[in-house]
Amino acid sequence: MTAHTIDREQAWEDSTSIGHPLVQGEVDLSHNVILYLDNVTVSFDGFRALNALSLNIDAGELRCIIGPNGAGKTTMMDVITGKTRADRGKLFFGQTIDLRRMTEAEIAHAGIGRKFQKPTVFENLSVFENLELSMKMDKRARVSLFAWLDDDARDKVADTLRLIRLDGEAGRPAGLLSHGQKQWLEIGMLLMQDPKLLLLDEPVAGMTDDETARTGELFKSLAGKHSLVVVEHDMAFIEQLGGVVTVLHEGSVLAEGDLATVQNDQRVIEVYLGR
Ligand SMILES: Nc1ncnc2c1ncn2[C@@H]1O[C@H](COP(=O)(O)OP(=O)(O)OP(=O)(O)O)[C@@H](O)[C@H]1O
Ligand SMILES: [Mg+2]
Repeated sequence: MTAHTIDREQAWEDSTSIGHPLVQGEVDLSHNVILYLDNVTVSFDGFRALNALSLNIDAGELRCIIGPNGAGKTTMMDVITGKTRADRGKLFFGQTIDLRRMTEAEIAHAGIGRKFQKPTVFENLSVFENLELSMKMDKRARVSLFAWLDDDARDKVADTLRLIRLDGEAGRPAGLLSHGQKQWLEIGMLLMQDPKLLLLDEPVAGMTDDETARTGELFKSLAGKHSLVVVEHDMAFIEQLGGVVTVLHEGSVLAEGDLATVQNDQRVIEVYLGR
């Protein structure tokens, strides 16, 4: 029996008591659904920020979420990542991983990465060091904080630098990057941990048009290998991404479909687009 098998059996044993396997890399995509929300409600002092929200995201999908301020978009990300607890409803990652039973750290470890609106990079470290550090902070990678990176790890940093278009800036302190470049670096830091699902809250806010278009290209190139859920208000950007658009309103799904369809939906025009 290999060490790998023993680890997995141990992990299974540790996890059966709480009813779901926590084996890394084992997201069951047999029904092609990576994220399943059913009837999810979150209340703050009686106010329902999410109100019986139901939503499915397919494996490899690039989904956009739009909706007016206060619709519950950020709360939805908070509840998926375990930052806020649901009062009721089902929240599954793949077929078997019950997110309601997991802590924030366990959810991140299972493969859900989240990008907040404000970039949070280490300003005094170089771009390369930021990526290196996020790899070392990934417990799965088993890279010592003080060890040199091996060749595979260096290749991974180099690939990510190219992907986020910062290969020319690897040695620069992150604090000297433009706002858009800092956003890309933070996305790169998330990618170092190989998330299966990426949640991005208003990723192009404050970016120039050129940076926004480049971010769109980046997200489209990530789809397929990763699943992405992107919350945005920028309609040109949503159009560029080209995926299914879900409109949230008062904590529930108001409409869903391609952008042209939801843009022509009278209810969507009333609550959001016609403002
Ligand atoms: N921790 C909290 N305590 C109390 N109310 C909250 C909390 N978090 C969110 N809310 C409320 O829940 C509602 C949904 O907020 P949320 O931030 O999810 O909206 P949003 O769709 O992300 O809006 P925006 O487009 O402005 O970012 C709002 O009315 C907000 O005030
Ligand atoms: Mg928000």
